[in-house]
Amino acid sequence: MSQSSIYVFDAYGTLFDVHAAAGAYADQIGSSWTRMSEVWRAKHLEYTWIYAQTGRHTTFWQLTEQSLDTAIASVGGIPDGLKPKLLAAYRELDAYAEVPSVLASLKERGAQLAILTNGDPDMIADATRSAGLDSILDRIITVHEADVFKPDMRVYKLVTNAFGCAPGDVSFQSSNRWDITGAHVFGFRTVWINRSGAPAEYPETPPDRTASDLTALLEN
Ligand code: LAC
Repeated sequence: MSQSSIYVFDAYGTLFDVHAAAGAYADQIGSSWTRMSEVWRAKHLEYTWIYAQTGRHTTFWQLTEQSLDTAIASVGGIPDGLKPKLLAAYRELDAYAEVPSVLASLKERGAQLAILTNGDPDMIADATRSAGLDSILDRIITVHEADVFKPDMRVYKLVTNAFGCAPGDVSFQSSNRWDITGAHVFGFRTVWINRSGAPAEYPETPPDRTASDLTALLEN
């Protein structure tokens, strides 16, 4: 077991494959499906940052749909009737292959496991249920308890409040490098799950570890 037995995971992109929704309909979208999916994700995140920076809050689901509209327009449209299917698929995204077994192994070792996400409680309930993760997780913490999106410090504080622990007691895992910076500034120990082999960035706020997937958590 590592120094910390409280493991907190970002959800979208870290546990759940955000590109699985468009991927499931790649044949119908056509060759632009990856570009559409990248725009969907990038705009989704951008909209959360603008809400946080302007002191406003909304549901993650509203921004899921608005960013999909932008993504669809960016590729010149998709076949009629496909948008509701993409939104439905986003509620039941595939978990990455290693996720269930890694979380189960950490749990067997006595770790406490939580999600900290921008996602709405009902979205995360659907995602964890469809991925079979709901019984493994000790807590699901969403930003909506703080009425602000990541990386506002009030979001990370939800974790230490929930567990009654110090920031340094928490190992925080995210595939989003900007989320690692927020968690690092708050004082968590951080593991950047760099699934895509993205270049290093944010040199002033480095992760404690970088790994290509969650299996690295079992190698302490
Ligand atoms: C989340 C987004 C940032 O789950 O991926 O919070």
